[in-house]
Amino acid sequence: MDALDKKLEQIDMMRLPRHVAMIMDGNGRWAKLRGQDRCMGHVEGVNSVRKVTELSSDLGIDYLTLYAFSTENWNRPQEEVDTLMHLIGMAIERETPDLIKNNVHLNLIGALDRMPQEAYDRLHRCELATAHCNGLTLTLALSYSGRWEIVDAVKKIAQDVKEGSLDPSQIDDATIQRCLATYDMPDPDLLIRTGGDNRVSNYLLWQIAYSELYFTPTLWPDFGKEAYADALIAYQQRERRFGKTSEQVQEDNKIIK
Ligand code: FPP
Repeated sequence: MDALDKKLEQIDMMRLPRHVAMIMDGNGRWAKLRGQDRCMGHVEGVNSVRKVTELSSDLGIDYLTLYAFSTENWNRPQEEVDTLMHLIGMAIERETPDLIKNNVHLNLIGALDRMPQEAYDRLHRCELATAHCNGLTLTLALSYSGRWEIVDAVKKIAQDVKEGSLDPSQIDDATIQRCLATYDMPDPDLLIRTGGDNRVSNYLLWQIAYSELYFTPTLWPDFGKEAYADALIAYQQRERRFGKTSEQVQEDNKIIK
C-alpha cells in the first residue's frame, strides 16, 4: 500500500465535504525557488489542478471550486496575465476529453466578459462539451472576486425592487443566494489555501460564512493528492457547530445516525 492509499484509508467516505473551494497560491515562489520565471510556476500549477480534480472526482466530492484568476490579478504585469490566460485556456482544452471520461462538468464564474476572446472560447467550448456530465462540478473562478459578486447581486436585487417585483421587506439570505454566481451550488464545506498566507483574499465571501478554513504552507505546484488527503483528514477531525453548542451537535448527530 503506498503513502496515498494509507492516507485515503483514514478518510471517512460518509463524511466527505460536498463542496471544496481552493485558493491556489504559491506558483510564483515555487518558480523563483528554482531560479525560473514565475510563469513556470503556473505551468507546474496546472498539474496540481489535474491532481485535485482527479482525487475529488474519484472520492465522489460533488463540487470543486478553484480560484484561477482574481479581479485583482488583472493588475499583474501584462506578460504574466497573457501567459496565465493562454495557459488556462490551453490546459482546459487539452483536458476536455479526460473531463468527459471522468464525468466532470466544467462551470465558469466571474466577470467573463473581461477575458481575452481566445481563452474564453476554449473554456466555453469545454463548458458546452461537459454540460451533460453529472459527476464532479469543477468551477473555475476567473476574473472573480467576492465583492464583485456581491455588488452584482445587489444590482440585480435593486433592479427587481425598481421594477416592483420584489418588496425590500422580502429580502433575506435566500434572495441574495439566488443572485450569486454560485446560486446553484451548496456553500463550500472546506476552503483550502496553499502558499502559507492565512487570508481569504476576496474569495467566495458570502459563501464561506461557515466553511472550515485550512491553510497550508505547501506551495500550489507541490500540492498533490497526499496533501489534499491531509486536508480532508484535518477537516473530518473538526466539529462543525454552525453556531450551536457541542452538546447540541452531538445530539443532532445521534438523530441523523
Ligand atoms: C497564485 O500564485 C496563482 C494564480 C494567480 C494563478 C493560479 C492558476 C493556475 C494554477 C493555473 C490554473 C489552471 C487551470 C487549468 C485552472 P502566485 O502567482 O500568486 O504565487 P506567489 O504568491 O508565489 O507569487
